[in-house]
Amino acid sequence: MYTMAYCTILVLLAIVSTVTGTDSSESTDQSSVTANPDTVTNIRQKFTWDPNGYIFFCLCMGRFGNQADHFLGSLAFAKRINRTLVLPPFRTYRNVMFTEWFKQEVVAQYHRVILAEDFMKHLAPKHWPVGHRIGFCWLPQNSDAKCVMKEGNPFGPFWDGLKVDFDDYIIYHLSYYETERWNEEYPGDKYPVIAMRGAPAGFPISPADRQLQRYLVFSDKIENDANSYISKNFPDQKFVGIHLRNGADWVNACKGTEGMRSMMASTQCLDGTGQRLTHKICFPPEQEVLRLVKNVIVQTRAKVIFVATDQNPMTSKIEEHLKKWKVKVYHLDPWLPLDDLAILIKSDHFIGNCVSSFTAYVKRVRDLEGKPTSFWGFS
Ligand SMILES: *[C@@H]1O[C@H](CO)[C@@H](O)[C@H](O)[C@H]1NC(C)=O
Repeated sequence: MYTMAYCTILVLLAIVSTVTGTDSSESTDQSSVTANPDTVTNIRQKFTWDPNGYIFFCLCMGRFGNQADHFLGSLAFAKRINRTLVLPPFRTYRNVMFTEWFKQEVVAQYHRVILAEDFMKHLAPKHWPVGHRIGFCWLPQNSDAKCVMKEGNPFGPFWDGLKVDFDDYIIYHLSYYETERWNEEYPGDKYPVIAMRGAPAGFPISPADRQLQRYLVFSDKIENDANSYISKNFPDQKFVGIHLRNGADWVNACKGTEGMRSMMASTQCLDGTGQRLTHKICFPPEQEVLRLVKNVIVQTRAKVIFVATDQNPMTSKIEEHLKKWKVKVYHLDPWLPLDDLAILIKSDHFIGNCVSSFTAYVKRVRDLEGKPTSFWGFS
């Protein structure tokens, strides 16, 4: 399952990309990895075709937390059907290569993966040539809708960025748990690449897939950004990280949540409790934020709070409320939400929003690291 590297020292670095096979069609290229910030240049990688085929899709849904849920579920699906996962670029205003944000070699510990850019450059020309590219869409059994792969944003720019057009379409009704039927109906020799309109996973993430978070590890760049923010602003200090999801879209999302069994990421706090969702859990009022933040500050004796929010950081309200404890509140407001995530993950105590998949990302990593998390309106 490993890449063949020419130099043993580099084998580990090169494990990342590919698959074995006896096919003689592999291509070897030095320049291929130079665009990849997480690998050393001048490694020669060999890209070998996987006869079991590939799974390729756009993470075209929602904000980052939502996309991360979809990614982990899709990683599990790729493993179940035993196809190599093509690591899709993320979408911002451009396609962001997977390795700008995450370590490919860590995902590769779980399952065979290849960067979309490497796949297009080294394998697609021969094995998935122009003229033979089929788009797969899930549609309900009796729908007469068409399979449209590239209509709208981010679908169009995603595939355009990889220079992919589709020549034919297949509509499927299989669920992502009908593993055997996938392989019977779409065997790798006949359908080498299953390129899907959406990620082959549900939202929110299935609890069984949460542990796959361990294979999604931030790139050195994201880690370094978080570390340098912390060492510049509150070095070596205990801090409490909080997530305030309070933008206008969230006001709407939380309408009617009182008494619901679950919504979005809410199983992360409600599962196994027999409790139902409340509006306060979804959209905690200011008094609730101040109450819980004070409890946690008293408990941890931290003097620093780091706030991540989509709208209102409540900076001066929180500082005023905690005047007696001389707490200072920091708010980065980064362009990239991952910078907030990386800092929140490092906090000594984290308070998040149970319904939010952004919070859920932080909680999953912290659970793996044995770090505590509380929830507004719940803890
Ligand atoms: C999964 O795919 C790999 C690579 O094509 C192959 O070597 C392996 O035998 C497959 N495993 C199963 C259980 O089919």
